[in-house]
Amino acid sequence: MNLVELPPGTRVEISLLVVEIQSRGGDTPHTVLVLANAAGQIPSAPFWASEPSRLDGVTPGSVLRVSGTVSSYRRRPQLSVGRFSVVPPDQVDWESLLPSIGDRRPCWSMADQWRLQMDSPRLAAILELFFADPEFRTAFGDCPASTAGHHARLGGLLLHTVEVGRIALAMAELHPHGLDRDLLLTGALLHDIGKIEAYQWGGGFRVTVAGMALGHVMLGARMLEQRLAGMGPTGLTEIERQLLLHLLLSHHGRLEFGAPVAPMTLEAELLHLADNASARAASMAEALASSDLFGGESITLRPVWTLDRRRAWRGRSEWGRPPERETAAGHRGPAAVSHAAPWSGWPSSPVLQRERCESDRVADRSLAEHPEAPHRGG
Ligand SMILES: [Fe+2]
Ligand SMILES: [Fe+2]
Repeated sequence: MNLVELPPGTRVEISLLVVEIQSRGGDTPHTVLVLANAAGQIPSAPFWASEPSRLDGVTPGSVLRVSGTVSSYRRRPQLSVGRFSVVPPDQVDWESLLPSIGDRRPCWSMADQWRLQMDSPRLAAILELFFADPEFRTAFGDCPASTAGHHARLGGLLLHTVEVGRIALAMAELHPHGLDRDLLLTGALLHDIGKIEAYQWGGGFRVTVAGMALGHVMLGARMLEQRLAGMGPTGLTEIERQLLLHLLLSHHGRLEFGAPVAPMTLEAELLHLADNASARAASMAEALASSDLFGGESITLRPVWTLDRRRAWRGRSEWGRPPERETAAGHRGPAAVSHAAPWSGWPSSPVLQRERCESDRVADRSLAEHPEAPHRGG
């Protein structure tokens, strides 16, 4: 339920995540909570300074069960909060509060198929170190691929990883000579494992201290080394160990984009290109899906941070094709299979919604808050 789309006066009983607590001074000091669920964000009506104890125990990341009424202030929706209680963390349904890719099974099916069909027993064994570990699978399946950029959703890392594998495989068909397909797929599956230590997602998407201090590229290489060490004698040769680590360390492509080394093998080059393609395409698709960025226009109202400060354009035409139609089963007719306005049915990213009213100056602040800038490696 996207609260900002409800008419003023609508009463709701709903769980909401506290994204931010804004304390405002002036003649009438008050506090505003920025509240969110998976569908979007809405500010609360003011909590006045005369009632400070109402917010005792409420912190960013808290989840509140709220009884309230949607209202409007200066034509902008807000939520007048009546009764509320803090939901214990072990009772929170994060899928309803944070953006999510939804059903993970198709992605897991593809990732597991890749690793179980490896010809190389040593690469298969290395992948099993991670993907046969239930704890790793839970974290990897929930982790976002970024906190505010591409695939910033629960399950986003898994989706991005599968996209990278598919793109890499497609490019591999064009360059089959001298290419180790198993090594390329292993690199695709492992390239961003460091993100499960670099990000936290319960209570909202944030970069961890380790993510700030070391970055996911370094963390991923360290995780690989640790699991290899715990494996005992692996039978890996030194050159095999180096080839594998090289994939993880070089996948951002260039030193200025966070790669300690630049790609030096065909597998590393394809992995880097696939990683970038997945990240950039997702950022553009997510921007186009955000109606808030467009304000009813066909071009975004301002440059978009997740597009490296470019604007996005919803330019399209039917090019003489017949109008799109829906079949009885609800599927789009053949003429519209690949050309239907995709953004009409896509969920809008709360991250992007948040930026709709912010100036470029604030976008710069966002860059500082999210040090892993978009498109400097995915
Ligand atoms: Fe990465
Ligand atoms: Fe990536």
